[in-house]
Amino acid sequence: MNDMRPLERIVDTDNIKISAKGCQVYYGDTHAIKDVNVEIEGNTVTAFIGPSGCGKSTFLRCLNRMNDTIDICRVEGEILLDGENIYDRSVDPVQLRAKVGMVFQKPNPFPKSIYDNIAYGPRIHGLARTKADLDVIVEKSLRRGAIWNEVKDRLDKPGTGLSGGQQQRLCIARAIATEPEVLLMDEPCSALDPIATSQVEELIDELREQYSVVIVTHSMQQAARVSQKTAFFHLGNLVEFGETGQIFTKPQDPRTESYISGKIG
Ligand SMILES: Nc1ncnc2c1ncn2[C@@H]1O[C@H](COP(=O)(O)OP(=O)(O)OP(=O)(O)O)[C@@H](O)[C@H]1O
Ligand SMILES: [Mg+2]
Repeated sequence: MNDMRPLERIVDTDNIKISAKGCQVYYGDTHAIKDVNVEIEGNTVTAFIGPSGCGKSTFLRCLNRMNDTIDICRVEGEILLDGENIYDRSVDPVQLRAKVGMVFQKPNPFPKSIYDNIAYGPRIHGLARTKADLDVIVEKSLRRGAIWNEVKDRLDKPGTGLSGGQQQRLCIARAIATEPEVLLMDEPCSALDPIATSQVEELIDELREQYSVVIVTHSMQQAARVSQKTAFFHLGNLVEFGETGQIFTKPQDPRTESYISGKIG
């Protein structure tokens, strides 16, 4: 990767939210992420693309220490959030995950009411003193998740009773409720139909005004539609990182070129 352009020429260095330095991930003897260095900007959607098994989800999970939950997984290097290493002993992973929220491939609402799905995080983190405070957080989060109008009259009904696309927006609203700064999304539209997908894509574009969003996607069209920055991974290496338009029209590395033209992956 010595031939990669220096990061400082690609990113706005005054606006760095997350900075990975020499990140390595092992599952037992499998070396899944190899010396990844990357900067994720604020108010930006960054897409992770690459063939199946290249390490996109693994690297995404490094950004909020979700890999801690996998016994055989070992992470080395530093991930700085606003300049502080999230792997520092003093960091509480539960607090960290409120700041760096995550949305998964399959919508996974809790088996609780729509209201309680959203209220759960704010309750644990003590973000509301009164029921009225909590009501405000729930409404604000559902509005930001672009689902308020569809659920405002059924807040006491189970979240699992919503359509797939609604459930995914509910999960995004749930992640927003703890006032995160970064939202990680691992193939958030892969279980959704085209209409629900375009609603979630529109939402991602709006979320950028307030958060830094990192999205893993298998769809290059989706990466091109929603992201400003794109990172291409291959066999655990971050092969290329840059402006989304540049990656898709003038890739610098032959592996990126092969992937986007459909020859690998
Ligand atoms: N829990 C795990 N235990 C052991 N190995 C794992 C685990 N999760 C991932 N791996 C391995 O790490 C490598 C990267 O996997 P990862 O899931 O990050 O890839 P990915 O790019 O997200 O793939 P996909 O596009 O299929 O989701 C693969 O070789 C995979 O087999
Ligand atoms: Mg994955």
